[in-house]
Amino acid sequence: MTFKVTWLGHAAFSVDMDGVKVLIDPFLTGNPLAAATADELDADYIVITHGHGDHVGDAVAIAKRTGATTLSNVEISRWLKKQGVPKAEGLNTGGGGNFDFGRVEFTIAFHSSSLPDGSYGGMPNGVILISKDGRKFYDAADTALFGDMRLIGDKGIDLAAVPICDWYTMCGDDALRAVELIRPGVVLPMHYDTFPAIETDAKAWTDKAEAKGFKVALLRPGESVEV
Ligand code: NI
Ligand code: MN
Repeated sequence: MTFKVTWLGHAAFSVDMDGVKVLIDPFLTGNPLAAATADELDADYIVITHGHGDHVGDAVAIAKRTGATTLSNVEISRWLKKQGVPKAEGLNTGGGGNFDFGRVEFTIAFHSSSLPDGSYGGMPNGVILISKDGRKFYDAADTALFGDMRLIGDKGIDLAAVPICDWYTMCGDDALRAVELIRPGVVLPMHYDTFPAIETDAKAWTDKAEAKGFKVALLRPGESVEV
């Protein structure tokens, strides 16, 4: 099988895993780059990497409308249940679980994680989606560069989404160093140009990554990559 990963703008993705739809960090309302509205997206699962509003986004509304199961850390899952989300699974860093799309694993990420109403959002995470035949999509999510990305790379990552600019996350040369540690088959730059503080020249970053021998899927919001 293949992953079809559609970038919805910012850090939001819609992932088709053998017909099962997994949304990640569905921030659409208020996202100037959003390639879809919250009320038109299908979801069987919604993965939330951390509590910030540009990641929790429309998760509550989409989960209530579709009945999707949310997958997040324990603290966020408790908060989602309080908001009326019917099926909210709470995992934690280093843990994972098997679902009908395959497997999800939560990795470390160096960031923060308060929820939109100020509630404690637990630890921030990256996430690895693993198809039933073992293909791996690593979404580094909001994070600084860290050396243990090498260990994540050792798992054999087919596609990696990395934030490339700035202010809130690693950017530029740190993001390039991250790609060198992760060694993915394809790199997907994200978390840029949404707001003035994170505007960047993604093409210039892509050129540098390609000069290092990496394959980059520089998508416009709404475009997809298959691996
Ligand atoms: Ni964040
Ligand atoms: Mn963010």
